[in-house]
Amino acid sequence: MSLNAAIASAAALLRNAQRPCVLTGAGVSKESGIPTFRDAMGGLWSQFNPMELASPFAFQRDPKLVWDFYEVRREKMRPAEPNPGHYALAALEKRFARLPIITQNIDDLHERAGSTGVIHLHGLIARNKCYAACQGEPTLIDVSTLTWDASATPPRCPHCGAFVRPDVVWFGEMLPPLALQAAKNVIYNTDLMLVIGTSGVVSPAAEMPFVAQEHDAKIVEINPYHSEITPIADIWIEARSGEALPRLVEILETGG
Ligand code: APR
Repeated sequence: MSLNAAIASAAALLRNAQRPCVLTGAGVSKESGIPTFRDAMGGLWSQFNPMELASPFAFQRDPKLVWDFYEVRREKMRPAEPNPGHYALAALEKRFARLPIITQNIDDLHERAGSTGVIHLHGLIARNKCYAACQGEPTLIDVSTLTWDASATPPRCPHCGAFVRPDVVWFGEMLPPLALQAAKNVIYNTDLMLVIGTSGVVSPAAEMPFVAQEHDAKIVEINPYHSEITPIADIWIEARSGEALPRLVEILETGG
């Protein structure tokens, strides 16, 4: 199927959808210049393996090393702006009563583009929380109000004195229960899932398109490369999301 035909077919499915939803991964933020976790492991950090930096064990062993790794990632992500793919999804939300976006991304580019129903499965890198969850999970901490010796340690929780950590899901950790429950409610009820920019290898997000399909949802994938989701996609739009999504929205709006 040509790219134009795939986008037109996806638009036809969307036109008939009652409860569409979106699942996004690192690919949707790629055109905003956000380094993926694998990219972030390059350079100075290439001597470490991910378990040494992104796990509770790593943080217990060397809190400053892990804190610094996330500070560098934040610094690299700071200049990033939403790209045309994010804006197109926000425009699409206006067409439907709601358009839940389940994302594995820890940036806030969907929200900054104007999407309102974003479910963050893996947390948000801009936020921090108490490692001990002393006031309940998550105990969010605004570190801009704290002073600490950054050359020595991460900041300390003002309530209990435990270290502060980024509010992201690490290897070996549970997903935030409320986000996971919200995502399940979406995938059990959707009739069309747009799967954008995810390789489909990290659970449980990787299973979500399969579960949605078992519940009779159509699956439309946008990814320039074959993924684990491609074999089950009703339509595969083989293109970058920043290119395909604006075209999809335009066809929907113009009826073309
Ligand atoms: N538009 C759409 N898709 C793209 C683009 C683009 N411009 N560029 C790349 N892709 C696709 C790739 O082909 C790949 O299938 O995006 C996907 C990115 O895959 P991953 O890097 O594995 O990202 P993701 O699926 O989000 O990974 C899940 O793994 O690294 C951990 O916790 C991290 O949330 C992340 C999780």
